[in-house]
Parts: sequence; structure tokens; C-alpha cells
Amino acid sequence: MRPEVLNELRDIVGSENVSTSAADLYTYGFDSSIHHHSPEVVIRPGSTEEVSMVVKVAARDHIAITTRGAGTGLCGGAVPLHGGIVLDTTRMNKIREIRVQDLYCVVEAGVVNDKLNEALAPFKFFFPTSPGSGEACTIGGMVAANASGMRAIKYGATRDYVMGLVVVLADGSIVHTGTRTLKNSSGYQLERLFVGSEGTLGIITEVTMRIAPKPKKVAMVMAAFPTLEDAGKCVSKLIATPLLPSACELMDKTCIQAVNKTIQAGLPDCEALCMIEVDGEPEVVERDAQKVQGVARETNAFSVELTHDAKVMAKWTNARKSVMASLSRFGEKFVSVSLADDMAVPISKIPDAVVAFQQIAARNNVIIGTYGHAADGNLHTKMLVDPISEVSWRNGEKAVGEIYDIVIKLGGTVTGEHGVGISKAPFMQKERPTMLTTMAAIKKAMDPQDILNPGKMQEWQGGIIKHLRYPCKDLD
Ligand code: LAC
Ligand code: ZN
Repeated sequence: MRPEVLNELRDIVGSENVSTSAADLYTYGFDSSIHHHSPEVVIRPGSTEEVSMVVKVAARDHIAITTRGAGTGLCGGAVPLHGGIVLDTTRMNKIREIRVQDLYCVVEAGVVNDKLNEALAPFKFFFPTSPGSGEACTIGGMVAANASGMRAIKYGATRDYVMGLVVVLADGSIVHTGTRTLKNSSGYQLERLFVGSEGTLGIITEVTMRIAPKPKKVAMVMAAFPTLEDAGKCVSKLIATPLLPSACELMDKTCIQAVNKTIQAGLPDCEALCMIEVDGEPEVVERDAQKVQGVARETNAFSVELTHDAKVMAKWTNARKSVMASLSRFGEKFVSVSLADDMAVPISKIPDAVVAFQQIAARNNVIIGTYGHAADGNLHTKMLVDPISEVSWRNGEKAVGEIYDIVIKLGGTVTGEHGVGISKAPFMQKERPTMLTTMAAIKKAMDPQDILNPGKMQEWQGGIIKHLRYPCKDLD
């Protein structure tokens, strides 16, 4: 990048917020995915106006801009494939308004999920989506990926909370979308267009977000099963009861063993378990908890435990949230990688999906830990790969292809909550062939120079074991 351009950027955001140090360029080449590519400069703007000025410079000089929140994304959405600028939003971290009487809040894009919930707690309100990375992930990143987590079955995903956005477009202009009213039929719902756009259509700088009252009471049931299929059946039977749990997390044997080994979680040693949370008015919670226990027993659970104790629930939830990190310490030379990691299928297909994943793992000689938010059909299959072995990556890649074939056949999607980025791109293209031309047309209309997070989603070509962060760098 030309030195004069760097100086212009320094004038806009202050020289302390522009970095070209080797350490920063290397570090900002990562998110939490398997991919890596360094940018040429890292910029940390403090306002929408600064973002707008930065984009105007980039547009004039055809410089790529990849927007990044906390870098917790698992599929390479924030990896700057074409170098250029990484635009870090974390300085834009103000909660501007909390209006519980109007059921919304207004936050800057860099506000962290859990910080927002801390601020909402005194009002007895919350933003319920509960991603695993809630301690770190930013609201802007969550909108860009349509992130969610444990409570989507009852409370929905981030998209269901987005009422309006402030976005900087590819020419640097600033657009306000949506309203501060719960209902709005006033033209195109443009805010929805940016949900899941992963920084390819504009840079989200502010979000007007719906909030929800906190439930009065919460209880949790832990049920242990003799087979993974039984656990899957429990989930779909629960939903058909009908019953709407606030969370329903499934874990297979590999995941259970991993957390028992690494954090001494003390979970029952079994083939599969479900942690099912119910919330609401005390009498409803009591009734639903009884129903959950009944369904678990009917689907062969051999141990069923109910708790109302906040400490026990926090311990169980922590065990579940520790799965991903624990899997990396499960086998000596393996790391858990996000390959085929967050597919979703129609809820009733969960038993078929989990059984198929087990067969695929065995057939391809890979270890797969299956867990996730099963009640909304969203599963995580973390694959254990030896990062320095090409054979291991190839086996993993083959298993990924087979997993997605099954997922698509079952009527599912290749990503339920993590987004497309690089790791899902070829499979999204396979899942949604009729949508690709429209996506390309929208991208062309909104970013004719292709400077916003270029090379991702419909633009990605080839396989996924490319631009790896590991010693095997490019295997495709
Ligand atoms: C979780 C992340 C991986 O649910 O989505 O833990
Ligand atoms: Zn998840």
C-alpha cells in the first residue's frame, strides 16, 4: 500500500489506530477458522463517519476491506483473503440507548454480546441468542453472520432481533435501514439483506435491536442415553409433544469424554446425552420439566436428572460450552477443526443425521465429535485432524463432502449459525445453486469494484483446505 495512503488513513483514525507491524499483520490474518491470510494494514476506526472516510479512500484506490469484530468466526469470514485493509470494529463499543418500554436497544457494532446482556440485566431484559463465544463476539459480527446459539429454538437467531442498521456502503456513503418500531412495512426490509452478508455488501456500524424480557424461572434436565440415535429421537419427540424448550443441547460420547478429561466436567459416561433447559413462569417450568423427563424416559434414557440450582446449571452449561476447546486436547496429536461444523437439518431428521455422521467418521478413519443445538436442528461436527499430516486433512475433506451430501439430502443447510466465509463456500454453492446468480447480481450492484471482503461466498473457487493456518498450507 502506498505510504501516502497509509498517511491518509492515519489522518482519519489517528496514527495509534493504524498498524502495519509484522505482529499485527500476522495476528489479524486469523479468525477462529482453519484459514489465514495477512492484511497490509489494520485500522481501528472509532465512528461511522471514520469508517465512511476509510471506505472512500479504499474505493478510490481499489483496496480490499475485510471487516472484523472479535475474530470469533469459525469459517474464515474475517480472514482478509485479498490482503488490503482489516477494519477492526471493536473501538465502536458504545451502548447508545436501552429502551425497555419500546423493546429495543441501540448499540455500536463492536459491543460485545455478554456486555450488552450485563447492561440489560438490571432492567430484567436480555438479548437471548446465547452464542458459545458470547464473552467475546460482537453484535456487528453476529448480525453479519446471523449468529445464534443455544436458545434459538425458542428465541430465534440474531436476524429475528435486527430492527435497523447503520451501514457504510462500498462507496463510503452511509445508509440507515429499518426503524425503531417493532412493525415496519415501509419498503424493502434492507436491514435483512445485511444479515448474513459477512461484510460483502457493506460495513455495519450500528444496530437497533429488539430485546426480550428475561424469564422468571429456569430449570434443566440432563438425560443420558445408550445410543446417539436415542438422544436424537428424544429431541424430535420433545418438539412434536409439543414443547418448546429454551435450549436443548446434545453431546455424543467423544464430546462427553473430551470435557470429562480436560475440565473434569463429571458428565455421565454414556453414548450420548441431552441437556434440556425450560424457562418461563414457575408453574410452566415445573410442568414442562416433568414433560421433558417423561419424553427422555420414553426414548430410552437410562438416567434423568432435573435441577433448579443455578450453580449446577452453570456447571452443565460450562461443560457444554467447553466442548470445542476440549476436543483439541482429547487426542495427543489432533486439533479440533471447523470443517463441516454447523450444519442444520429439519428437526425430525436429527436422528438420521447423527447416525450418518457416525458412519461417515468410521468410513473415513476420522474422529468426529457431534454436539450442538439439536432442538433447532443445528449440529456441530468437530473433526479431529493431525494438522501436519496431509493424509489426515484429505480424510477430513472427504468426510466433509459426505456429511454435506447427507445434510443437503435431508433438506438441511450447510451452515446454521456460523456463516459461510471460506470453509462453507463450495458447499453453499452446491446447496443453493439457483441463488448464486442473484447473490452475484446484488454484490455487483452494491460493490461494483468488489472491494468488500472479496473472494468469499459465491466468489470462492476450489476446495476448502486452502490458505490453512497450519504447516500444511495449501492442499487444493
Ligand atoms: C458452539 C459453537 C461452536 O455452539 O457454535 O459451541
Ligand atoms: Zn453453536
